[in-house]
Amino acid sequence: MQNIKLTIDKAFGFVSKESVAGYKNTASAANKALHEGTGKGNDFLGWLNLPTSIDEAHLADVENTAKILRENCEVVVVIGIGGSYLGAKAVIDALSNSFDWLQTDRKAPVVVYAGQNIGEDYLFELQELLKNKKFGIISISKSGTTTEPALAFRLLKTQLEQQQGKEAAKQLIVAVTDKARGALRTLAVQEGYKTYVIEDNIGGRYSVLSPVGLLPVAVAGFDIRQLVQGAVSMEKLCGVETPFEDNPAAQYAAVRNELYKSGKKIEILVNYHPKLHFVSEWWKQLYGESEGKDNLGIFPAAVDFTSDLHSMGQWIQEGERTIFETVISVNEPNNKVLVPGDDANLDGLNFLAGKRVDEVNKMAELGTLLAHIDGGVPNLKIELPKLNEFYLGQLLYFFEKACGISGYILGVNPFDQPGVEAYKKNMFALLEKPGFEEATKAIKARL
Ligand code: PA5
Repeated sequence: MQNIKLTIDKAFGFVSKESVAGYKNTASAANKALHEGTGKGNDFLGWLNLPTSIDEAHLADVENTAKILRENCEVVVVIGIGGSYLGAKAVIDALSNSFDWLQTDRKAPVVVYAGQNIGEDYLFELQELLKNKKFGIISISKSGTTTEPALAFRLLKTQLEQQQGKEAAKQLIVAVTDKARGALRTLAVQEGYKTYVIEDNIGGRYSVLSPVGLLPVAVAGFDIRQLVQGAVSMEKLCGVETPFEDNPAAQYAAVRNELYKSGKKIEILVNYHPKLHFVSEWWKQLYGESEGKDNLGIFPAAVDFTSDLHSMGQWIQEGERTIFETVISVNEPNNKVLVPGDDANLDGLNFLAGKRVDEVNKMAELGTLLAHIDGGVPNLKIELPKLNEFYLGQLLYFFEKACGISGYILGVNPFDQPGVEAYKKNMFALLEKPGFEEATKAIKARL
């Protein structure tokens, strides 16, 4: 197996090679602080050695639970929000057929999501979809008290019990939550659901390689062993023993901090394969929640190319010069499509006849890279040899490790998210939740 590859030289017209090399000591110290547990948020480092700590018994247990859901369900609803669903959706979408839900000869249940919004139409339509279907639920909430997933779980649990009977429903529900605390844990114990623990020291956005991600990915029919193996190899490559120059996580952390210092306040993650859209959503949460605090932090945004070259492309090429891009490039697609010749050639595309569609995509990628550099947009590139479980596992761990190092270089705690509480407090006050009486009075006075 190869490794995913980071290339940063197209940033060097904008920041100097020497200035990035100058991060050697800071980045290595940040990496060391992670491993020695001496930095900020050091009670949330359970993700650091997670890949190498996953044992055979755990994988077999997750696979067995997935098998039960796969054999008994047409649809499995993954309930969760933020870090409790984005990682699973990122991996499942990246590995699935783009038209997955229309496949008739399915070998795995359709995986759908709930609890990641409070849209009433979304929930109504989901309930309609599940009517008379054999469905199961994986309810994921570390705190076990988050409103969005709790609300969705209440609705879907009720529906499942009505459709299957209370006892049968219990066999089709899996809870992934804290080992002792929270309403979901209480309910799971009371009802006797199969459960998995999210360890105290693993925050939501760093939990994709825990059962939070592994169980849904296994249900969808993908190889969680390869995913973990990929992450294991990246854990080793990004370790403290690897010199700064060869450590992709340290290099990425260094160059993005230097770009940020030079005025590049926005990073866009770019893909050229639409099935990577949710990898970007996962990445946005990872970097946004980890670094966006203390009035600091690169704003993480994402685009799907070439689609967005026909919309955001204008801004990226000629808008305010505060942006740099990180491109996820897949070297070899899993399938081959050749452009056919056409006698009439009315569309003028015969110059492409016999070429792979991917060659067109790659030239779009190269042409865009050159245009963006000319337009003042530094470019970083992460190459994946192929889109499969192993390289996705590498990519996920690489981003996690780089995020920890990058946050420490920036000087923030990359493992907390105090800002997320502000909207919740207001929402509970507005909904007159018991215990929020004072806040309710205060907020109503503002309306
Ligand atoms: O990264 C995080 O910690 C958050 O995005 C959480 O994952 C999200 O808020 C959901 O929390 P919980 O799993 O407690 O329901």
